[in-house]
Amino acid sequence: MYNICVTGSGYVGLVTGACLADFGNMVHCVDIDEHKIKRLQNMEIPFYEPGLQEIVRRNAEGGRLFFSTEVNDRIEKSAVVFVAVGTPMSESGEADLSYVEMVAKSVGEHLNDYKIVVLKSTVPSGTCNLVKDIIKNCCPSGQEFDVVSNPEFLREGSAVEDFMEPDRIVLGASTERALKVMKEIYRPLILQDTPVVETDVKTSEMIKYASNAFLATKISFINEIANLCELVNADVSMVARAMGLDDRIGPKFLKAGAGFGGSCFPKDTRALVRTAEKAGYDMRIVKSVIAVNEDQRYRMVDKVEKAAGGVKGKTIALLGLTFKPDTDDLREAPALDMARDFLKKGATIRAYDPVAMDLAVKILDGITYCPDVFDAVKDADVTVFATEWNEFRDLDLVKMKKLMKSPVIVDCRNIYEPPRMKEHGFAYHSVGRSPREV
Ligand SMILES: NC(=O)c1ccc[n+]([C@@H]2O[C@H](COP(=O)([O-])OP(=O)(O)OC[C@H]3O[C@@H](n4cnc5c(N)ncnc54)[C@H](O)[C@@H]3O)[C@@H](O)[C@H]2O)c1
Repeated sequence: MYNICVTGSGYVGLVTGACLADFGNMVHCVDIDEHKIKRLQNMEIPFYEPGLQEIVRRNAEGGRLFFSTEVNDRIEKSAVVFVAVGTPMSESGEADLSYVEMVAKSVGEHLNDYKIVVLKSTVPSGTCNLVKDIIKNCCPSGQEFDVVSNPEFLREGSAVEDFMEPDRIVLGASTERALKVMKEIYRPLILQDTPVVETDVKTSEMIKYASNAFLATKISFINEIANLCELVNADVSMVARAMGLDDRIGPKFLKAGAGFGGSCFPKDTRALVRTAEKAGYDMRIVKSVIAVNEDQRYRMVDKVEKAAGGVKGKTIALLGLTFKPDTDDLREAPALDMARDFLKKGATIRAYDPVAMDLAVKILDGITYCPDVFDAVKDADVTVFATEWNEFRDLDLVKMKKLMKSPVIVDCRNIYEPPRMKEHGFAYHSVGRSPREV
């Protein structure tokens, strides 16, 4: 059992803190956002993440999980400090390390004993060494500490499950002492045969970027294949299925659609390109992945324009706003860029999302937010599926057709099968399957 402080109580920090408490540790989750901490102290989860409420409540009630804004005090009381603060994209595309540096300074100034600082935030190769230098510069001379890289691979929407059953644990450490503690902390997962990759800190940092860039590559790759399928009358879903049956390729991340968004892939691919540029290398594949992805959402806008015969003066029902289902995260969501473009082109938008409406209202003006799917599609000239929420998968299509002004659907996530939509009398357009079905 360790006294652990987790700095940053966002998607990664809160899940990490709750799960580490569930392993039996005493965990203090700290954040500089007072409102967030107040909500957590009242057992309210500040964002949507399935299963998180239960594990937070169980451990808080069990006296193992605490929330505070007293960052310095909790650092002093802990033997291990996890860093899970944001590393957003800066103007130049690099990872903004200012929050990480802020925590490093706090640790240095409050290093009252040997501590291990664990970087869970996604950071470029070399950041652990930077953190080490910052701590060294502000801590009492001779005070020992270690900095470990332990990147996080959880996905929003299945974060608790991903943390509790990870594909691997990556530990980049430079001392046996720190490695031993990290393996003790992760013992419950190691006992269930989770592979552990032990490596140096710089390699560990690179593993995270390489993994995210590769997954992003699969998405942009299949989107390019989908775009070509549309031109040669092939069906991308069959192509992806057959490709995925090859063990060397695998079926995941081969779903054609509006492209990737969220708080990770867009910023991490750009940060990798910038790290390479600074090191004197031109990262050509990743640059193309980004460019294809940036175009893909506007290809969806073109698709809608073609399907509706132009969007000026038309009403668009936009279903799904988040970058993927099972999260309320709107960061870099394709649906938002599409909505802005529709508005610029003179369309009226009626939008619905199962969980992100309250957040969307704050960042996207000029659209009508509707209480459910059927309200959104009322009198619409075209309905656009922008996120593949489960509740969109089996809608009452007869009712939907009756409510719409024209039965036109653009399915940017290939939720429905073309023959079924044809049977229901829709002009149905999807991604990489279009010409044969319309
Ligand atoms: N979200 C994901 O799916 C995911 C997955 C793997 C890795 N990551 C990485 O994990 C890191 C965190 O991501 P997130 O999505 O949890 O971010 P987030 O924006 O949800 O949360 C970050 C939190 O850190 C807090 N913070 C900032 N400075 C602080 C300080 N000095 N002390 C204490 N708290 C501070 C902020 O107030 C915020 O609540 C990022 O580097 C991200 O790339 C994210």
